[in-house]
Amino acid sequence: MDYHVKDIKLAEVGKNRVEWAGKSMPVLKSIMDRFSKEKPLKGISLGACLHVTTETAMLAITLKQGGANVRLCASNPLSTQDDVAAYLARDHGIPVFAIKGEDNDTYYSHIDSVLAGEPDITMDDGADLVSTLHRKRTDLLPKVLGGTEETTTGVIRLKAMAADNVLGYPIIAVNDAKTKHFFDNRYGTGQSTIDGIIRATNRLIAGSTFVVSGYGWCGKGLAKRAQGMGANVIVTEIDPLAALEATMDGFRVMPMAEAASIGDFFCTVTGDRSVLRKEHFLHMKDGAIVANSGHFDIEIDVMALKEIAQSTRKIRPFVDEYTLGNGRSIYLLADGRLVNLGAAEGHPSAVMDMSFANQALSAEFIKVHSKDLEKRVYNVPEDIDKEIARLKLASLGIRIDELTPEQEEYLTSWNMGT
Ligand code: ADE
Repeated sequence: MDYHVKDIKLAEVGKNRVEWAGKSMPVLKSIMDRFSKEKPLKGISLGACLHVTTETAMLAITLKQGGANVRLCASNPLSTQDDVAAYLARDHGIPVFAIKGEDNDTYYSHIDSVLAGEPDITMDDGADLVSTLHRKRTDLLPKVLGGTEETTTGVIRLKAMAADNVLGYPIIAVNDAKTKHFFDNRYGTGQSTIDGIIRATNRLIAGSTFVVSGYGWCGKGLAKRAQGMGANVIVTEIDPLAALEATMDGFRVMPMAEAASIGDFFCTVTGDRSVLRKEHFLHMKDGAIVANSGHFDIEIDVMALKEIAQSTRKIRPFVDEYTLGNGRSIYLLADGRLVNLGAAEGHPSAVMDMSFANQALSAEFIKVHSKDLEKRVYNVPEDIDKEIARLKLASLGIRIDELTPEQEEYLTSWNMGT
């Protein structure tokens, strides 16, 4: 079998870690059980470009149990868990192409290897697979039934493709399901970003000034968790509504030009480029810690940091010291790539349970409904979203009320007032 992993002998470690993750993924497991009986993806070639983690392993196994021929590559050069990649290749016969720390050429050659499987369905996190397919393998377009997209950045890219009339097949925006972004983006990013920063630095968060750039779902989660650990949190924003929300949530809001000289920790979660740049680095305190948890490594202008640095060295794994001409040192984590997956293990399994339940059910939806779909970006059908919420609640042993007939009637009537 074709695969490219760091070391196949790591498989045994990966096996135990995937088993551990599976214990917190009851919703996906129930889908896996159904898929293995019903084989809804029988005969489907599925190309996936996802962070190769223990949780992704659970998804890949589910899709394979469902009858799909799955090929998997990484959606970021730094997020692969090499033991997991080895386990999927060795024990599940899944062609995996992913090595933690791979260079850009290898990263794209791995995407090519997934496309070599001529996918009927693509499953993407950040849209690199879809964009490579549309640039280099247009011959494959007529065969593709549809694709799914995991993250905000990818959905934005794909909507831009649809707006330019170049999107060659329908996409389901898994990110936009409520059971995805309300939980994964907020609680997942919140916890895993703090986890990555702490694992990399072992610095104390309590009493520090922690600057969060961007107050979308990820920023909200991160600001709240940093505050929960005792940090004084500053939010920077470009959107007046988000800035107002951050203010009323109790955070200080100011431009980065002001926050730069105050912060001990900086973390970008905006989805846009050059949020931290030369004029900010020059004002930072000695010892400032700079990280990114947005999808791409564009939010921190690392080139500018390199240009103004007089010396650089790796001081700990995932921590590079940049000493500037003003004598101050700035510490960049995980090369400016997403710190939660580069320096830690990404979101906990319990939230990925819902995200990947959406992925599995959306793949099944594409198989059944592709003929009725246009070449545009769709939301996950509401009944799938609600069903995942119901299954998650049931797995947590939480019951909720039901509307009485009288309440139902009230909600659909307009003539009952005071
Ligand atoms: N994205 C963020 N966290 C993740 C995880 N644990 N697995 C896969 N993709 C992720």
